[in-house]
Amino acid sequence: MDWPEARALFPSVDKIVYLNTAGGGPLSERSAAAGRAYYEQSLADGDIHWDAWLERVEAVRGELARFLNARPANIAFTANASTGLNVAAHMLRGRGRVLAVADEFPSCTLPFLQLGHDVDFVTAAADGALDIDQLEAAASETTAVLAVSFVQYKSGFRNDLECLGAFCRQRGLTFVIDATQGFGAFPIDVAANHADFLSFSAYKWATSGYSIGAVYVSDRFLVPASYPLVGWRSAREPYDLTSDSLDVTPDARALEQGHPPFAGVFALGASLDLVAEIGIDRIAARIVELTRYLHQRLDAAGIGVLSTRDESHQSGITVAAAEDPGDVVRRLRAEGVIVSTRGAGIRVSVHYYNNRADIDQFVAALAATGA
Ligand SMILES: Cc1ncc(COP(=O)(O)O)c(C=O)c1O
Repeated sequence: MDWPEARALFPSVDKIVYLNTAGGGPLSERSAAAGRAYYEQSLADGDIHWDAWLERVEAVRGELARFLNARPANIAFTANASTGLNVAAHMLRGRGRVLAVADEFPSCTLPFLQLGHDVDFVTAAADGALDIDQLEAAASETTAVLAVSFVQYKSGFRNDLECLGAFCRQRGLTFVIDATQGFGAFPIDVAANHADFLSFSAYKWATSGYSIGAVYVSDRFLVPASYPLVGWRSAREPYDLTSDSLDVTPDARALEQGHPPFAGVFALGASLDLVAEIGIDRIAARIVELTRYLHQRLDAAGIGVLSTRDESHQSGITVAAAEDPGDVVRRLRAEGVIVSTRGAGIRVSVHYYNNRADIDQFVAALAATGA
């Protein structure tokens, strides 16, 4: 599939200059059709497709597991990233201090604070860079967990998960990742990265719409007694409908408790199929190439780039400097150019369905604001 063909699957990006995937990605025609098919089947036939829906859920679970290099038993579908991070925070109670990064997306740290974990914060560099020596210095004998995002939502800095995973392994830390700003944009290998918990929402880079995400739980944490919430589908034999004794499956699906959100899972499944068809390595390379072009154009227009210049840490997110980002974002929106404001700048996101013309239009409109 070439890039114009891929773009054509996202009708919304032809109506506006859409550079806001970090806020929320557009749906593709395929994900919309997959979600809609569930509602249409239910509308036409009631519940008679229930078995087929459950089979499709397991097929998507398998697909997601392959994408992450995990087993289906390590994957639970969730409504959002926060749910998966809460699962991690609950299951890690009593293990020791948590090392986290100041200014992370709140869902990465609030679940730990809510449950009374002791959290130590390290401060990243201005461009979002995290230094292993700094983490090393901040970790104490009692540190047990490192909780970070794959791609930082404000700076766009893409952490090297392999390097952080090696650090965790060497120090015996549990590695918790919020992958929301990278899932669907860059490859993720939970085994190679020694991840223990990885949670994501699929409405951004995985273009699957709201209310669907997943959490990966590594084998060593698949311990039923530690699961924070259970329901009928948590049972080893759910269809026995036993209610007077507890036999929870060690499988991560136990964390789903009850019925999965069919429409969301099917939309995610269609997105995973699309990513597989295009190729995640091609998508990642396309994002890096478009980001390089964006930086060149901003440089040429004399507009400051606050994000990292190191391509090995770049993501789909770039932050451009502006005196009054809120005002600029409002003025750009009025011209059909959609970006967002974060921190001291304008957050611009490029995904594979964007093209150079989008970037040219954005930079021209931004320059015209005199920002
Ligand atoms: C890093 C990160 N995690 C999570 C979320 C969203 O969390 P949730 O899926 O729980 O709504 C965002 C949204 O911007 C984010 O940037």
